[in-house]
Amino acid sequence: MGRLDKLPPYLFAEIDAARDRAAAQGVDVVDLGVGDPDQPTPKALVDLAAAAVRLPEHHRYPPGRGDARLRRAIAGFLRRRHGVDADPESEILVLVGSKEGIAHLPLALVAEGDNVLVPDVGYPVYTEASILAGAEPRLFPLSVDRAFLPDPRVLGRLADARTRLLWLNYPNNPTGAEAGAGLYAPLAELAEARGFVLANDAAYLEVSLDGHRPVSLLEAVDHRRQRVIEFHSFSKMFNMTGWRLGFAVGNSGVVGQLARVKQSIDSGAFAALQEVAAAALAIGAADRLLVDVMKPYAQRRRAIAAALAKAGLAVFPTQATFYVWARVPAGETSLGFCGRVLRDLGVVLTPGVGFGPGGEGWFRISLTAPDDRIAVAARRLEDL
Ligand SMILES: Cc1ncc(COP(=O)(O)O)c(C=O)c1O
Repeated sequence: MGRLDKLPPYLFAEIDAARDRAAAQGVDVVDLGVGDPDQPTPKALVDLAAAAVRLPEHHRYPPGRGDARLRRAIAGFLRRRHGVDADPESEILVLVGSKEGIAHLPLALVAEGDNVLVPDVGYPVYTEASILAGAEPRLFPLSVDRAFLPDPRVLGRLADARTRLLWLNYPNNPTGAEAGAGLYAPLAELAEARGFVLANDAAYLEVSLDGHRPVSLLEAVDHRRQRVIEFHSFSKMFNMTGWRLGFAVGNSGVVGQLARVKQSIDSGAFAALQEVAAAALAIGAADRLLVDVMKPYAQRRRAIAAALAKAGLAVFPTQATFYVWARVPAGETSLGFCGRVLRDLGVVLTPGVGFGPGGEGWFRISLTAPDDRIAVAARRLEDL
């Protein structure tokens, strides 16, 4: 069996097809499925990019680990916003979107037959990339009784001598759950004791309500002593999903291993865009931009949560991410429920099982649709 044959079916393609069929039949579909911000990239950044594209120096191959100004800007941003001290030379690596680094990390760490600990529920790339690298993904449960945080004892039992990597994702997609030092510190110790890498996918670290600050793994764990790495993204921070920029930060050994893999695969992100990203992170700019980018989500969350409450559906409370994670009505499956909502109400939701078997009984709403479309969806969902 080839590695591609081992990949799980891609549920999201089926959901897109069902959405397109409904739209073709004339249904006014509100798509709250995929987490892709509806707002454009802030105008100041687009203007900078337009000028940066014209500079011939940007038309050549970008520098290996990323533009030095951008890596310094990332270090400054992490220090100011999260109190994290990272060396731009050896502990920061620019990525072609965080997904690129997340997908390549197993290639750096595993041999055929090794295993990777992957959260259920979770972003499908952790499982897929483990399989593509020849490793076995081992699912560990995230459940509502533990606020969607893993039980370190369960992880201790699941890990064995062939475990190379443990994936976390906080703030979490799809649940919105957040972690702090109380989880990160014991898991970093477990990873250290058993000799595997602890990775946190922090693509949503800056996506939060009303100035709330979720905690970085590197605020809680000393990356100079422990083999930890964290993945960050410009995509959701600055409405830049199409630009493809992210970065990894952490232990210099692990960052170096990932850089080595990337050397054989890509030649870095377009230098003009790296210059824009550096400007976005400059002192003062980042905090102002983030306030503007995050502003719409608070009111959208309230509108959707109120509609679901009227419909009698329980929502997992959170101040992070732009997702609402809620229970399907008693007696329905997540796939059946989301199919019914698309057919009867013309609203696209994501069934919890799209994130793993542990998502049964739940569904996800993305708040990345314009305010008026969120209002339409909220009115329809009240009548569930
Ligand atoms: C949990 C999580 N991690 C990583 C990514 C990838 O983001 P990007 O590659 O755009 O930085 C996403 C995108 O939706 C995500 O949901």
